[in-house]
Amino acid sequence: MPADTLLLALKAAASRVEAALERALPAEPTPSPLARLVEAMRYAVLGPGKRVRPFLVYAAGELTGADAAVLDAPACALELIHAYSLVHDDLPAMDDDDLRRGRPTCHRAFDEATAILVGDALQTRAFELLAEAPGLPAETRLAMIATLARAAGHRGMVGGQAIDLAAIGQQPELAALERMHRMKTGALIEASVILGALAGQANEAMLDALGRYARAIGLAFQVRDDILDVTADSQTLGKTQGKDAARDKPTYVSLLGLDAAQALAGELRDEALAALDGLPRAEPLRLLARYIVERPA
Ligand code: IPE
Ligand code: IPE
Ligand code: MG
Ligand code: MG
Ligand code: MG
Repeated sequence: MPADTLLLALKAAASRVEAALERALPAEPTPSPLARLVEAMRYAVLGPGKRVRPFLVYAAGELTGADAAVLDAPACALELIHAYSLVHDDLPAMDDDDLRRGRPTCHRAFDEATAILVGDALQTRAFELLAEAPGLPAETRLAMIATLARAAGHRGMVGGQAIDLAAIGQQPELAALERMHRMKTGALIEASVILGALAGQANEAMLDALGRYARAIGLAFQVRDDILDVTADSQTLGKTQGKDAARDKPTYVSLLGLDAAQALAGELRDEALAALDGLPRAEPLRLLARYIVERPA
């Protein structure tokens, strides 16, 4: 699978999950007291995202022999949790951002209270989808719910966000920064891979190898995000460039410098590739690992 095939595969996963998200979200609003909430939920989810987490669900699921049909629910669940995390991340009380996915952030396009409720509603909808996922045994659905809840909550994304906010203006040790990045971003990326593998009834050895792959690319993803915040422009990113320095956030770039941060991303990619050794049908995951550390946005 050459690199341009990855872009096609990313596009295919994006189209597939977007169709499933369209079905999973409440319908276009009619005049009703819920119209504003529904419109804002759709705005937050259906804007142009890369859909990296759904791609990982499909790629890990297909590697383990799952049918794409049973992967739609976990792929949607991951994207809904991710979209909720972005809506809340952008709020004035958090990163105070005006631009997301090339458009005004949710609280800018609507209002703060609506953006808070959008996050709440997307999060609960994600777990509802997993509870009702078609074609999967109850134990698998339960394992997916437990895995995603853990990754999204105080031991994962939310905990990482709390550490991120507490770290403003500080220069933490590298180990502390790594922990923050693994929690705020790595945890949901790892959950994407694991939910896909659970859908395919992967055995322990496969879950272990995929977990090692996912932890490496999960950290690499946020290292690259820190780099892009410095090197890319707002139009390419679809979000405001330079926000980390403006908000005095410790990042891999502020701690290590650009070159060492990019070198670390490369090492993490190699670690991810090594974890896939001997696994069948792993080419899409290999290409994604390369993409994550070179992506332009
Ligand atoms: C941005 O995630 C936030 C981080 C966790 C670094 P993405 O770069 O995946 O954003 P979208 O979904 O493509 O907009
Ligand atoms: C993203 O961290 C973490 C989550 C959204 C959970 P950032 O704050 O760096 O993400 P961007 O750069 O705003 O997308
Ligand atoms: Mg943030
Ligand atoms: Mg942010
Ligand atoms: Mg960032």
